[in-house]
Amino acid sequence: MKTKLNVAVLVSGGGTNLQAIIDAEASGIIKSAEIKLVVSNKANAYALERAMNAGIEAIALTKKKGAVSDCGAEVIECTKESFEADLLKLLKDRDIDLIVLAGFMSILSEDFVNEYKDCIINIHPSLIPSFCGEGFYGLKIHEAALAKGVKVSGATVHFVNEIPDGGKIIAQKAVNVEEGDTAETLQKRIMEQAEWILLPESIERISYERVHNKTI
Ligand code: GRF
Repeated sequence: MKTKLNVAVLVSGGGTNLQAIIDAEASGIIKSAEIKLVVSNKANAYALERAMNAGIEAIALTKKKGAVSDCGAEVIECTKESFEADLLKLLKDRDIDLIVLAGFMSILSEDFVNEYKDCIINIHPSLIPSFCGEGFYGLKIHEAALAKGVKVSGATVHFVNEIPDGGKIIAQKAVNVEEGDTAETLQKRIMEQAEWILLPESIERISYERVHNKTI
C-alpha cells in the first residue's frame, strides 16, 4: 500500500501556485503526497525553473518547433494530435496518482479526463459558479468580477471533468474586494489569501483520504 500519492503538476506560466505546493511539501503541510513531476506546455515557463530548483523532474511538452528551455528543463516536442497521448505516457511511466492543474492554460479532452477520473484537480481564482468556464482565464476573471461590482471573490479548488471549471467543488475561500481594486491588485490578494493556501491544503486532504482509503 502507498503511503504517499505521486503527484504531477501541470503548468504554463509563473508557477506561484506550484511554489506554494513545493513549500508546503517542504514544511510538512503536505505529508501524504510527493511531487514527482512538473510538466509545462510552454518551454519558457518560469514554473519549470521553480521545479528544477526544488530538484523535481521538469519537462516541457510543447508543440513549438525547436523550443528550448532557459533553465535546462528537458524539452519534448509533440504535435497537436499527440500532446495528450505523450502526456499520458509521461504520467503513466511515473505512476502518477493525482494531477494538479496549477495555471495550466490548455483544455484537456474528455478522453484524457476519463483516464484520470476524479484524479485531476484545478485551482480557479473565483468563487465558482461565478466568473468561470470558457473565456474566463487570467486577468479576465478579475476584470469581470470588478465590472459586476461584487464585494467578495476568492478561489475554488475543484475536480476536473469535461466541462471547463465544471467538476465537483473540493474547497473554496472567499477574499474581500477592496475600494480602488484593479484586476491586478485583486488577482494578487486572491493568490496570497486564498490560492496559495487552498491548493496545498486540498492536495493534502485528498491524498490523506486516498492513502487511508476514504473518499471525499
Ligand atoms: C492562478 O491565478 C490560478 O488560479 C489560475 O492561473 C493562475 C496561475 O498562476 N488557474 P501561477 O502560474 O500559479 O503563478
